[in-house]
Amino acid sequence: MTVTPPAVRGVTIWFTGLSGAGKSTLAEALAPKLRALGQRVEVLDGDAVRTHLSKGLGFSREDRDTNVRRIGYVAHLLTRNGVFVITAAISPYREARDWCRETIRDFVEVHVATPLAVCAGRDVKGLYQKAYAGEIPSFTGVSDPYEPPVAPELTLSTEGISVDEGVERVLEALRSRGYLSV
Ligand code: ADX
Repeated sequence: MTVTPPAVRGVTIWFTGLSGAGKSTLAEALAPKLRALGQRVEVLDGDAVRTHLSKGLGFSREDRDTNVRRIGYVAHLLTRNGVFVITAAISPYREARDWCRETIRDFVEVHVATPLAVCAGRDVKGLYQKAYAGEIPSFTGVSDPYEPPVAPELTLSTEGISVDEGVERVLEALRSRGYLSV
């Protein structure tokens, strides 16, 4: 007897933006909202991925691209099994992000476009201060490139809006594309 699995439609919500832009905060706030709507959710956060899946990788272009493609590949496997995947890595290079888009297909790119001055002013991890002092080489936005998406599904800055407002805008982007019915 052939068993036909129920139709599932997962999606990857791909946050991209500078360190301190608010990617992880949005990801952590979005996940429980999606779970409350009955979705299975996984968060692949840049910092967590770098302690497990990408342990040992640095911040050269090559290593960043490897990191991003690994995240993209895992997101692809989960998405095709109906999971809502939320990623939160800087993912600074357009080409690697576009590879993820083409591989995953159900892909909603969210550019967290908080201005550099705001990210550096927050300096949650104290890294911008070190980067400006020249103590961290190749720091994104300071001494290393960030290529903004050309046509993201959503652009938002976390400056002057609440986390809930940011999450609501992402949910709206998912609704308007048919990934959520409520
Ligand atoms: S990515 O470029 O490969 O996508 P990822 O999101 O995994 O980056 O890691 C970024 C985090 O690593 C930053 O939020 C910051 O805490 C830390 N970090 C350490 N060195 C750097 C650097 N040179 N550039 C950017 N982030 C760095």
